[in-house]
Amino acid sequence: MLDKGVRRQLEEAVAALKSGGIVAFPTETVYGLGADAGNREAVKKIFAIKGRPADHPLIVHIGDAGLLENWARDIPQTAWALAEYFWPGPLTMILRRQSGVLSEVTGGQETVGLRMPSHPIALELLRGFGGGVAAPSANRFGRISPTLAEHVRAELGDRVDLIIDGGSCQVGVESTIVDLTSGTPVVLRPGSVTISTISEVLGKEILVGRKGSSMVRVPGTLDSHYAPDMPLRILPVDLLQLEAIRLSERGLKVALMARSELLLNRSSSGNIGNYKMPSDPEGYAHDLYATLHRISGENFDCILVEALPLDDSWQGIADRLTRAASLLPTA
Ligand code: TXA
Ligand code: MG
Repeated sequence: MLDKGVRRQLEEAVAALKSGGIVAFPTETVYGLGADAGNREAVKKIFAIKGRPADHPLIVHIGDAGLLENWARDIPQTAWALAEYFWPGPLTMILRRQSGVLSEVTGGQETVGLRMPSHPIALELLRGFGGGVAAPSANRFGRISPTLAEHVRAELGDRVDLIIDGGSCQVGVESTIVDLTSGTPVVLRPGSVTISTISEVLGKEILVGRKGSSMVRVPGTLDSHYAPDMPLRILPVDLLQLEAIRLSERGLKVALMARSELLLNRSSSGNIGNYKMPSDPEGYAHDLYATLHRISGENFDCILVEALPLDDSWQGIADRLTRAASLLPTA
């Protein structure tokens, strides 16, 4: 049950959306920055607030799978099967757009991304509003996605009409995106809904999109996306410890994100912040962005991350970390 304060905020939020306002709201993945997907001026505000290039399409969020047909046409059976199995939940489907869907929403493409989130506040908001809500993650372009209302407040607080605080987002990384516009489904962005589960549900093989191999542009897969404001490197645990000690002995402040227990000698530990990460993918995903936000708030020089297991359930996390990785300074 939603408490009274949240109910009141939801009413305000619905009114704000209806009058072209911008509302930040929790979803099960990350906080979204929502606008009426049918209101061109409102959608344009999202791009201005995020500093996002205009050709990057937005996901339209709906409160009922029955609304799919308002936004997409030629909907394949696979889409209904995935909606039935995963919705409400962290899966976005790329479909052919219905005529009339704003080009600001689709980034000028003939396709549209659709998702029905499972967070109770998001669902209430969408159902109260009735239409589609275009919502990217509620962060400035290229920055770490928010999984707490305070992340949104710190980055965009004065630029949005309302932030609904729903506590921490349970999943923690953005939805899995699957493109259903050609015969073979293609996963364009991995997430907590795994590629193997999608394949099992559809009873067929699916592809994983690589840069340049798909007809659909996914600007969210720019290599530089999800960047913290300091260098980040991914290393196997042995090397991680050696590198942490080497860098800290040279006077650099190092943040560590490791699942393993680390043995760090005392002389170097003053320069090292150890952010222990959960050993299961669900827990890790949940903590990932919040940890990166915390580290960004301290004055570290770099982040070292313990390499992740290779199996399917870690792919969404590995994807976000790989994008955040860049070269360390040569100290
Ligand atoms: O979990 C999520 O998906 C969150 C929450 C708020 O729902 N939203 C989110 O939105 O991650 P955003 O804008 O940060 O990322 C959306 C991604 C981008 O990579 C965008 O390029 C892609 O979805 N996308 C949206 N519409 C598309 C389309 N028609 N074709 C291809 N990619 C599309
Ligand atoms: Mg984003």
